[in-house]
Amino acid sequence: MDSYVQGDNNEVPVYESGAEVLQKLQEKCRSSSTSSTPAAAMYSSVLGGIILDPAMMLLPIDDHMVHRGHGVFDTAMLLDGCLYELDPHLDRFLRSAARARIGTPFPRGTLRSILIQMTAASGCRKGSIRYWLSAGPGDFLLSPKGCPSPAFYAVVIPAEYEQCREGVRAVTTSVPMKPPLFATTKNVNYLPNVLSIMDAEDRGAFASVWVDDQGYVAEGPMVNVAFVTPDCELVLPEFDRILSGCTAKRLLALAPKLVEDGRLTAVTTRNITAEQAKRSVEMAFVGSGLPVLPIVEWDGQPIGDGQVGELMLALSDLLWEDMKSGPDRIAVPYSN
Ligand SMILES: Cc1ncc(COP(=O)(O)O)c(C=O)c1O
Repeated sequence: MDSYVQGDNNEVPVYESGAEVLQKLQEKCRSSSTSSTPAAAMYSSVLGGIILDPAMMLLPIDDHMVHRGHGVFDTAMLLDGCLYELDPHLDRFLRSAARARIGTPFPRGTLRSILIQMTAASGCRKGSIRYWLSAGPGDFLLSPKGCPSPAFYAVVIPAEYEQCREGVRAVTTSVPMKPPLFATTKNVNYLPNVLSIMDAEDRGAFASVWVDDQGYVAEGPMVNVAFVTPDCELVLPEFDRILSGCTAKRLLALAPKLVEDGRLTAVTTRNITAEQAKRSVEMAFVGSGLPVLPIVEWDGQPIGDGQVGELMLALSDLLWEDMKSGPDRIAVPYSN
């Protein structure tokens, strides 16, 4: 039975038992038309297991990641029941954790096995997984000294997605860029990224592009950017002050095929100014789930002839093929 705090017109229920809280959470979950927790499964090292009830996919409020933003995360795409490029993502995840001075509750192999088991338990065959390492629950202070052990959380997010073939608009954002330490560490402080994509959406664009103080192109809020120069060179900005995108890295590994075919002249990472980049014949966002999204207009100016270019489509085909049948896929051991 609920009891109530007195003396306030908006009386707030006080739930004294866990059973009441559980019932309330489950009611909320059932009644929301668009599920507020779209995950198909969650793993929590605090619980020590996999959760299938969306109402119970919760984080402890005293977790250092929740109240101080002391956490790192990463992802992997799930396509046709296979996890794509999980190992490069896990490598980046552990690099981010080391930079953020967060330990892990388990060795790498155990983290990997948990992610695969969680995906199998979800029954989900298409979407993505996302996972976090945090300094863990503790004493609400700034220093993590009072957080005795790191925590590992993960979810499976079902989603429909297909290879992108239409072009989109991009805009340069005025939201300040993260300094290199924070941009290269995939940490949970995504406020600049959120403000940046909201800025793009307000201006009718798919996403924004960060350009640094010296005028060099950096990245988008959740994507890297790639250009084809007028002499058919594929150029991606260097990764020393932006996130080292796993999709961008894979693109760099696959793109030389188009050099062999004589369609590209070279594949390079080097810094390029926005002014030079705007003279590209083709441009694209590159990131998990896209994997290559052609950009046909940037800051109101057409890129190339303003149409989706055939080289970005060819690169997109190479990556999509790699996701569907390439060597770095883990078949999830579903029970049915
Ligand atoms: C800031 C930022 N840049 C680039 C990327 C692209 O990285 P990936 O290809 O590994 O998805 C992401 C993806 O999360 C990102 O958040």
